[in-house]
Amino acid sequence: MPRVMFTGGSGKAGRHVVQYLVEHGCQVLNLDRTPLDNPTVRTLITDITDSGQVFNALSSYMGLREFDPSLRPVKPDAVVHFAAIPRIMITPDNEVFRINTMGTYNVIEAAVTLGIRKIIIASSETTYGLVFNYEPRDPVYLPLDEEYPVDPPDSYALSKICNEATARAFATRSGFDIYAIRIGNVIEPHEYAKFPEFFANPEGRKRITWSYIDARDLGQLVLRAIETDGLGFQIFNAAQDDCSSDLPTAELLRRYYPNVPLKRPLGEYETLLSNRRAREMLGFRPEHSWRKELQAPR
Ligand SMILES: NC(=O)c1ccc[n+]([C@@H]2O[C@H](COP(=O)([O-])OP(=O)(O)OC[C@H]3O[C@@H](n4cnc5c(N)ncnc54)[C@H](O)[C@@H]3O)[C@@H](O)[C@H]2O)c1
Repeated sequence: MPRVMFTGGSGKAGRHVVQYLVEHGCQVLNLDRTPLDNPTVRTLITDITDSGQVFNALSSYMGLREFDPSLRPVKPDAVVHFAAIPRIMITPDNEVFRINTMGTYNVIEAAVTLGIRKIIIASSETTYGLVFNYEPRDPVYLPLDEEYPVDPPDSYALSKICNEATARAFATRSGFDIYAIRIGNVIEPHEYAKFPEFFANPEGRKRITWSYIDARDLGQLVLRAIETDGLGFQIFNAAQDDCSSDLPTAELLRRYYPNVPLKRPLGEYETLLSNRRAREMLGFRPEHSWRKELQAPR
């Protein structure tokens, strides 16, 4: 049973990833500022911007109840770090930057110091610089892949780029595996009801290149990352195989990105946030496309 310390498990994405990990045999302790409403997972109220709290939490016991025999602390197998301010316009820009960069530094530093050899951090598709630019902007090429020359203009995406650099530095120094997941637009199961609106207004999702990732499939990707050892520092996009539009990918490109070169030929409905690396290196196989979900009985 892999023991996983999970930060930000009370949030939109984290709650589904935590549930997926528990369903697949992991023991999880959630470190968050707010409790998670899940009877199978305990939350330890922790502020990730406080290094002392993070060191203490990552070395604490993982049992569910006060009288569990597992009260004695045992080193976890992995840390999954999702806690963050998840976009601009929630807090002032400097607070997004401070909380996200210091929080991530604290989590990675504590995990490495405590000898936890697998660390997975949530990065973002906003690192590609299209999402929060003042004006709509063309990418250098499509599909967006992990080799892309990222140069985001906003404090949130910049914080994620800094976090990737922090992860790389600690992986270089320690030799541990630290994987950053550039997550696309997270879709919870009930949110497939919004897809007809997305189809009616394809331009509305242009800046996120129509990417989406089912929250349960994000759970699968995180589990595969926990189980796949020896890759050192890595970045993986997290996206479904297709776009969150009913238009063929070539038609989206013709209408909205006519001047952007294609790096390689694309399938008829293929995602523009490439998930190839996660498929090839982690064995990621997303299961919840909107085509399947909209047909499922509700
Ligand atoms: N939702 C998306 O579409 C999306 C897309 C790309 C990347 N991401 C990234 O995925 C992660 C999860 O995003 P989400 O949508 O679930 O966000 P969310 O805001 O729903 O969840 C974030 C969680 O982090 C916790 N948190 C915030 N500051 C904290 C602190 N100082 N100490 C402890 N806990 C703290 C919050 O209480 C919350 O439970 C984030 O890192 C986000 O940047 C999300």
